[in-house]
Amino acid sequence: MKLTVLALLLSQVWAAPQAKRSSNFLWLGSSESGAEFGQANIPGVLGTDYIWPEADEIKVLFDAGMNIFRVPFLMERLIPTQLTGTPDATYLADLQATVESITSLGAYAVVDPHNFGRYYGNIITSTSDFAAFWTTVATVFASNDHVIFDTNNEYHDEDQTLVLDLNQAAITAIRAAGATSQYIFVEGNSYSGAWTWTTYNTNLVNLTDPSDKIIYEMHQYLDSDGSGTSDSCVSTTIGAERVAAATTWLRENGKKAVLGEFAGGANSQCLTAVTGMLDALSAASDVWLGALWWSAGPWWGTYIFSMEPPTGTGYTYYLSLLQSYAPGGGSSGTTTTTSVATATTTTKATSTTTTTSTKTTTTAATATSTAVAAHYGQCGGLYWTGPTTCASGYTCTAQNEYYSQCL
Ligand SMILES: *[C@@H]1O[C@H](CO)[C@@H](O)[C@H](O)[C@H]1NC(C)=O
Repeated sequence: MKLTVLALLLSQVWAAPQAKRSSNFLWLGSSESGAEFGQANIPGVLGTDYIWPEADEIKVLFDAGMNIFRVPFLMERLIPTQLTGTPDATYLADLQATVESITSLGAYAVVDPHNFGRYYGNIITSTSDFAAFWTTVATVFASNDHVIFDTNNEYHDEDQTLVLDLNQAAITAIRAAGATSQYIFVEGNSYSGAWTWTTYNTNLVNLTDPSDKIIYEMHQYLDSDGSGTSDSCVSTTIGAERVAAATTWLRENGKKAVLGEFAGGANSQCLTAVTGMLDALSAASDVWLGALWWSAGPWWGTYIFSMEPPTGTGYTYYLSLLQSYAPGGGSSGTTTTTSVATATTTTKATSTTTTTSTKTTTTAATATSTAVAAHYGQCGGLYWTGPTTCASGYTCTAQNEYYSQCL
């Protein structure tokens, strides 16, 4: 019975003609869980207590259009005993291999100590110890500009100034270690929730980075308590509603963000709510650079949000939606050096099935090319066929290779 319902829902999703959105994001991807599993057993045994993500399945998601993968791991397994210590060689080698399997594709790998601001269960209070941890990790990845450092997963129930100071200590240590080209994802208190960001985390506006590549990583779930533990969504509009205040804060303060965790249950209410949230982020891609689903990973089994190919609940229900927000429209995984000429060829090649609709699209594109884009509207970027002129008073500004907008 369960299968019948799922098949029905799937046919509805697939039958609905998916308007090909032009992607405004720099990143669209997923977390890749496994190495942080088995938190009751530290260090635990590889294959019994925890597992590393599988390169083959990452490749499946990459080929589907994803270009960023967040790799949660445990600080205690990487650097046992004390934060100022040296890494466990095996766990570090496996982390490096996982990161390499991602960045060798041309995708971004987010190095995510999934520790909630804690080490062996105690709130990390020493900024110098935390800096030492980050010096060790950043040194390993200093030469790989497709690595992103995520200072810590979901600080919560701790002093707000401490959250500021820990993030700043991490940033300073990472840059001092010679890792100057990478983005740094900073997270906030209260589980880094987007919906409560302006209640708790406004002091993080004062973080500074000599490389100026701070990205505020927020998380957002759509169940009643925002915990992501239910596959119910509060309403069809809850996604857009829960990110609205954060968007305003980002714009007012000239900051950029990524939705580092989000998900929704495999049901039509959540599908609409997730779509509304991604549409809201995409419409605000001057400040929101992308989003990462929670979560893929080899051991999720029947987990309500599993993005693991080929049978994960989230994978089978949400992949086609997510693809429509992938950088470059999700037509391929070529995110690095695709020239406009190649891109055009790819688009044509994939649209040969329906000649009529291709023609319609071409006509529409020609018709709109003389139009002007409004404030915050898109005015250029790879694959863009719409207006390239902005309304009076606004300048077409490149946000990334996929997206220019009128500001
Ligand atoms: C940022 O730092 C300045 C200078 O210390 C301080 O006056 C201000 O209150 C801080 N901003 C926030 C939002 O905490």
